[in-house]
Amino acid sequence: MPHERTAAFAPGRVNLIGEHTDYNQGLALPFAIAEGVLVRGETLPARAGGEARVEAYAGDLGERDEFRLADPPPARGWRAFVRGVAAELCRAGYPLTGARLAISADVPAGAGLSSSAALEVALCLALLDLGTGGRADGEGDRRELARLCSRVENEWVGARTGLLDQLASLYGAADAALRIDFRTLEIDRVPLRLGGWRLVVLDSGQRHAHASSGYNQRRAECARACELLGISSLREAHADAIARLPEPLERRARHVLEENRRVDEAVAALRSDDLAAVGALLNASHASLRDLYEASTPEVEATVERLLAAGAAGARLVGGGFGGSVLGLFAPGVAPPAGSRHVRPGPGAHVLED
Ligand code: GLA
Repeated sequence: MPHERTAAFAPGRVNLIGEHTDYNQGLALPFAIAEGVLVRGETLPARAGGEARVEAYAGDLGERDEFRLADPPPARGWRAFVRGVAAELCRAGYPLTGARLAISADVPAGAGLSSSAALEVALCLALLDLGTGGRADGEGDRRELARLCSRVENEWVGARTGLLDQLASLYGAADAALRIDFRTLEIDRVPLRLGGWRLVVLDSGQRHAHASSGYNQRRAECARACELLGISSLREAHADAIARLPEPLERRARHVLEENRRVDEAVAALRSDDLAAVGALLNASHASLRDLYEASTPEVEATVERLLAAGAAGARLVGGGFGGSVLGLFAPGVAPPAGSRHVRPGPGAHVLED
């Protein structure tokens, strides 16, 4: 039964380890966080003989949008996400109705916590709940929605991001990280038993937008490396073949290979409750993102330094880099620096019951 009113929540995410691996069919270990995006909606009946329309209100910005549900014209900023989600759901054949939507968020935009995916996923669940009465909430394969949201980001927003953020938001669990294999899209829950340890994020203060950062360039470099190696993804690459690539492609590919390995080392460390080993892996991941992938900035480096100076067992940039937040892991009794935000795993995207 379609609902006339809905409220859907989708979380942001922190990627524990496995950065810039998703679009290389590699491995990652994200978890959904408690903060995210809430979309409240109600059906908007079409006027007699008129087409179904969507009215959207971004509460935090005090801005509105209105467009025809099917085939809306492109737009920029937050409007690109709303129009893109509505259009892609229609194109995929989901029966939607006109809707009035109100968006609010408690995850900061551009801070590397995946506010974009949270917005896409919450919009999807809200529109689907109004249109079909919950087909998306648990029944269908959520991988299909992740791909759809990723198309929105690629084609409507212009960021060629992978599936990491959407899968983390859709599949998150309250007490676990998710080991995702992007070759098979297999997702395994890995219990995140932190004991007295704490994970925090510290904002570098430098906003990033994937559509305009070095993100798309890194992706193109990986594609070029594959072309030269005659393979379809870096997951198939061997270390000796990579060594013969021209720079900077050799460095980019080496990061991806070694980062995949670190993901499984982190899974093993978590399974044996060895959080000190997880800290060392975070540091190794950051060094690789800085030196091989060159996705860090002076602001990010200063933020890593602040965390390490406060006694973090490990610290690394999270998300695409080129700004955003830094993740820090602190042993029991060690205080994170002022301004740090404590993060812990939270449930995946869901429709709220009224
Ligand atoms: C961003 C993208 C993800 C992923 C990370 C880097 O968060 O949205 O798809 O590529 O960067 O790991």
